[in-house]
Amino acid sequence: MLDRDVLLREIGLSPIWRSREATNAATVSQTCVPHAKVESPEPLNTTQEHAPETPLFVTSASPTTESSADRAARIATLSWEALTSDIAACRACKLCETRTHTVPGVGNTSPEWMVIGEGPGEQEDKRGEPFVGRAGQLLDQMLAAAGKSRKESTYITNVVKCRPPGNRDPQTDEISACAPYLERQIALAQPKLLLALGKFAGETLLSTDATVAAMRASPGERSGVPVVVTYHPAYLLRSPREKAEAWSDLVAAKRLSESEAD
Ligand code: URA
Repeated sequence: MLDRDVLLREIGLSPIWRSREATNAATVSQTCVPHAKVESPEPLNTTQEHAPETPLFVTSASPTTESSADRAARIATLSWEALTSDIAACRACKLCETRTHTVPGVGNTSPEWMVIGEGPGEQEDKRGEPFVGRAGQLLDQMLAAAGKSRKESTYITNVVKCRPPGNRDPQTDEISACAPYLERQIALAQPKLLLALGKFAGETLLSTDATVAAMRASPGERSGVPVVVTYHPAYLLRSPREKAEAWSDLVAAKRLSESEAD
């Protein structure tokens, strides 16, 4: 078991992570779980679910004969296993034309935290697993510093499950087409907390077009689950000074999810 300071030093985040907030952080266990390729869907042990509230987005017409409303209603009934198969076969937006693999998500299907990024990049598209590139390494380090791990205490997914070509931003119609999948994942997983990484995840979960700064400042909620918005790890790689702010978001997330557990 690593001491938190030792861990932060090893991952090169100390002293930047030693923010004013860090001193208030609860002592947490430190287990850094390395990336591991997932060959098949996670074990399907989720039994509880709750009905979705308002849709994350109004879905636009898909190129299939099924209406978007029928499609969303059907997806809202799927098991984890059926959801993974549905995503693998999805043709609801143009991202299906250029993807190598769909990237449904990875981790514990009954997680403490559900972590939501933007969309798969090149490495993720090759491997079918979210956050396996440089941003993913930083995400794992951030989670480890908060006492969480990719496999044990989180479920990690993205707003869109297919790679936007050239790593461009996901477009509104693509986010809308994928929204029923994210909504179903949240309903199945019933996490204690939703951690939104960056603008697209924050906007999608909170149904807002507020800035990341505004979303970070006031945690919201989705389907009764608290939503904490923080910086995307890819942004933190470009702007390491913001790591201290991201650490304070994680501390807030820990507090919120622990109070949910009470
Ligand atoms: N960035 C994301 O938002 N998601 C990934 O899976 C990888 C990089």
